[in-house]
Amino acid sequence: MVYLIRRERFNSAHRLFNPIYSDEENYAIYGKCANPNWHGHNYELFVTVKGEVDPKTGLVINLKDLSKLIKSKIIDKVDHRNLNLEVDFLQNTIISNENIIIAIWKELEVELNKTSARLYKLKLVETENNFAEYYGE
Ligand code: NI
Repeated sequence: MVYLIRRERFNSAHRLFNPIYSDEENYAIYGKCANPNWHGHNYELFVTVKGEVDPKTGLVINLKDLSKLIKSKIIDKVDHRNLNLEVDFLQNTIISNENIIIAIWKELEVELNKTSARLYKLKLVETENNFAEYYGE
């Protein structure tokens, strides 16, 4: 079993808030990330897949195909977008790193199950100091 990692990047705006709370309460929970006028991040998404090496190709999955899949299912939908307002798979979600990475997992897992590789791990870097990892559990 070999684990392959593909990195993709995207730039997005978001706001951390829960509409059940007042502006004051949202600021108390999320700090300046609750700013109603949004803020942005340069995100990095690391997608780890696993699989057996095909003896004919020497590959687990063609990384170009993996990149295309991640781009069409995720990056094209989130890059230069407002994550709170414009992304179909993030509707009715608090746009935290935790919820984004879980939503991305759900989108990618379905597609990767149609390939020779399986999704193993996601890492979503929001800032150099803040990032999340998710193994689908
Ligand atoms: Ni933020």
